[in-house]
Amino acid sequence: MYSIKLGCEKMFCGENAIEGLKNLQSQCKKAYIVMSGTILKDIGSLKIVTDVLEESGFQWRSYTDIEPEPSFQSIIRGAEDMKEFGPDWIIGFGGGSAMDAAKAMWVFYENPEYTQIEDVLPPNEIRNLKVKARIACIPTSAGTGSEATRAALIRDPIKKKKYSIRCMNGRMIPDVAILDPIFTVSMPKSLTAASGMDAITHSIESYVTPLANPYSDAMAVASFINGYENIAECYENGSNMEARTKMLVASCMGGIAFSNCALGLVHSIAHTFGAEYNIPHGLANAIVLPYVIEFNSRNKATKDRYEQLAHYAGIPSLLQGILDLRKRIEIPSAMKDVVPNDKDVLDRIDLLVEKSLGDVCTPSTPVKPTEEELRSLILKVYFGE
Ligand SMILES: NC(=O)c1ccc[n+]([C@@H]2O[C@H](COP(=O)([O-])OP(=O)(O)OC[C@H]3O[C@@H](n4cnc5c(N)ncnc54)[C@H](O)[C@@H]3O)[C@@H](O)[C@H]2O)c1
Ligand SMILES: [Fe+2]
Repeated sequence: MYSIKLGCEKMFCGENAIEGLKNLQSQCKKAYIVMSGTILKDIGSLKIVTDVLEESGFQWRSYTDIEPEPSFQSIIRGAEDMKEFGPDWIIGFGGGSAMDAAKAMWVFYENPEYTQIEDVLPPNEIRNLKVKARIACIPTSAGTGSEATRAALIRDPIKKKKYSIRCMNGRMIPDVAILDPIFTVSMPKSLTAASGMDAITHSIESYVTPLANPYSDAMAVASFINGYENIAECYENGSNMEARTKMLVASCMGGIAFSNCALGLVHSIAHTFGAEYNIPHGLANAIVLPYVIEFNSRNKATKDRYEQLAHYAGIPSLLQGILDLRKRIEIPSAMKDVVPNDKDVLDRIDLLVEKSLGDVCTPSTPVKPTEEELRSLILKVYFGE
């Protein structure tokens, strides 16, 4: 038995999708906008959002004090400010970091009695949601798919660990998602590449996990085709609105895919390097992905699924296709290129293995590595071949 939730209550996609904000049902007409830094304000993107809100009679307040890969401390500070303003809509506006921060702040706003990260982690169930406010997300990267997923990923910088706040029954999936390419054209090339590879990784890992099902498969395949066909165009010609729209769709569908099944070892190793060495999530996935495809391909059923996915996108081999794509969008081929500290990695290899094995995504990976196999895989990811 499995249960399915295919995304938000309402999604608006394509050019001028921002007009969809006019449909927000609201009693007190107060919107609280969460962003990661002031960049979207500085380049005029925030004004596009607030103009529509003001036209619809909303008062708004924005909060920008969220770092990339948000920490628990920023979430708690933001939730205090949110309580003071008292919104009935929360808007996550930005990449995965801003959207996840908005989702996590919302949890603490709805439940002021919670003070610790442990209060909101499984097996604890989040008590109240949608009592005080509903949530809309507007992605500006493509992406994490966070606008349609049931989780928010929060970092503990002291324990160097990433936590997934989530409701397995989908209560944390935002009510509304706005996929408007006007907001993604400003991405720097590096973010276009890294976040795009995150989306592609979501589709591939969703397709090969043992928890895959016909609904997640449909989303994973459509996400992979749109992502594979458009990421390089977005990278090379960032103002192509059609490619940007398709990349947003790929990202959102990838999020829906893994929210209805699971991720795997690419994410486990990427989470570990991300938390230990501050590597952006998408970049870490992009580096790890081909190594895990190669590792998992020892299992014939998994290899067949990889090749099916490649076939749908019209490429002869998934591994070669990903390697070629990675080169084209200038992703480094080994982790050593972004963490140039051999000694530290070798000193901490036991810890890296332990954290990857204990990661939330490891139980759902299709080919379970032994400790020894994982150690040699992580060293391969680090040193390259
Ligand atoms: N909730 C989920 O299901 C889920 C899934 C995958 C990843 N994540 C999380 O998402 C985070 C990564 O998100 P991301 O890859 O989107 O990067 P990000 O949100 O961290 O953004 C990176 C930087 O780019 C800036 N930026 C974003 N959009 C921009 C734009 N259009 N123009 C200019 N600058 C822009 C941000 O302000 C930030 O400084 C990680 O914390 C990761 O763990 C969450
Ligand atoms: Fe991811």
